[in-house]
Amino acid sequence: MKITLSNGTVVPVEMHKIRIVQKINLVPAQERLAALTEAGYNTFLLRTKHIFLDMLTDSGTNAMSDNQLAAMMIADDAYAGSESFYRLEETVKEVLGFNYSIPVHQGRAAEHLLAKVFVKPGDNVLMNYHFTTTKAHFEIAGGHVHELFTDEAMNTESQHPFRGNLDLEKFKACIKKFGADKIPFVRMEATTNLVGGQPFSMSNLREVKKLAAKHGIPLVFDGSLISENAYFMKTRDPSCAKLSIAEIVKEMMKLTDILYLSARKSACVRGGLMATNSKEYYDRILAWLPLYEGFSTYGGMSVKELEAMTVGLREMTEFDVACSSPELIEYFVTRLVAEGLPAVTPAGGLAGHLDAKRFLPHIPQAQYPAGALTTAIFLTSGIRSMERGTISMDRDAQGNDVLADLELARLAVPRRAYTMSHIEYAVDRLGWLYKHRDLVGGLKFIEEPKVLRFFFGKLQPLGNWGAKLVKAFEKDFGKTC
Ligand code: F0G
Repeated sequence: MKITLSNGTVVPVEMHKIRIVQKINLVPAQERLAALTEAGYNTFLLRTKHIFLDMLTDSGTNAMSDNQLAAMMIADDAYAGSESFYRLEETVKEVLGFNYSIPVHQGRAAEHLLAKVFVKPGDNVLMNYHFTTTKAHFEIAGGHVHELFTDEAMNTESQHPFRGNLDLEKFKACIKKFGADKIPFVRMEATTNLVGGQPFSMSNLREVKKLAAKHGIPLVFDGSLISENAYFMKTRDPSCAKLSIAEIVKEMMKLTDILYLSARKSACVRGGLMATNSKEYYDRILAWLPLYEGFSTYGGMSVKELEAMTVGLREMTEFDVACSSPELIEYFVTRLVAEGLPAVTPAGGLAGHLDAKRFLPHIPQAQYPAGALTTAIFLTSGIRSMERGTISMDRDAQGNDVLADLELARLAVPRRAYTMSHIEYAVDRLGWLYKHRDLVGGLKFIEEPKVLRFFFGKLQPLGNWGAKLVKAFEKDFGKTC
């Protein structure tokens, strides 16, 4: 919740207290350099013991509530017919309005099943923007992914409240070009991850649904960050201001044919879910579930997590929970912009993002500026962030790099895990790095997997800039942190 202090400053205030903590380490810069070299300049390959603030992702890293933990104790460990599932099913009906629930082990498992059941070779899958695993699954099934984003989506200095909107004219053009029978579904991703956590508006969702329904195209909703999208609708769209988060979530779901989500984000647990009111879709998905995930009453999840997900789905519709990450992110982004850093605006859900093209304009995209920025951030702060740029795109069939639309370093803000002092530390060290940005150079691959190369690929700095950056850092901060 935002509170106005007596001096007029608005600050985010946590509507919870912390009762379980995990110790974190801040190791000296030289140790960070050794760890990063060992990790092939890929932040995914770092170990927790070398990381101070883990801002890689908000996926599965959120603090759970006391009620979630308590629910885990009453989990019913039956292979089939678990009461834990029936509690989930009731909650999904109540909170999301769907009769049929399918648990899956995480979000990409749902994407796999969607691809298996709905995407045929030559099909065209339309979406407001892709997510890495989504695109890979639909392409492996032989589909073509088309991203129907608006011009505003690519403006990282925007003030537009809904940069995740789908461009309806592009949607119409696709229907005309491909024919509705070659479009298995249109996918709307809440708080569009790779555009910088940017939401879509309720009116955009309504229009997308109207057009899709007119042509018999199902609307698939990626609700991994559904509660944050609802928060932005409430706070940025006057027509939603009087609605509760729970009402906004329900309204979005009325427009949805198939919901899927990674429960590792808004729901603050580890798992995934698919839900629908169509018996036909349910049956088609269910047919594959035992082969890839598990029986229908656990779907590859631990039943303990299933119970926690049931509670998490309810809690994510409370304002105090929905606001927990967006408000700290807004504070973070506002502070970065005030310090003159090229942060992506407006602040979105899931993370504060830095625009690496503006941060490191001297590094060409072929030398991976966003990747270079994430590694430089680690060296100078111990903060682990994630590359969301060209490294996160795989090469095309000819083996050429596919240059990403955006080069972003993503500093995720897991829900209820970090505090304002952590954010202040991040702003300070990022500010130092910005002043010394000329020291940062590009990267090149030395080991490169073909699919989703960003996970396990290894890189090398072009020139010995990592060591030089650490030397400059030690000059200002000493050798101890
Ligand atoms: N959809 C969106 C919008 C996501 O952000 C993610 C995961 C997935 C699907 C896949 O879900 O990880 O449970 O299999 N995003 C994580 C991230 C990995 O770090 O942003 P998953």
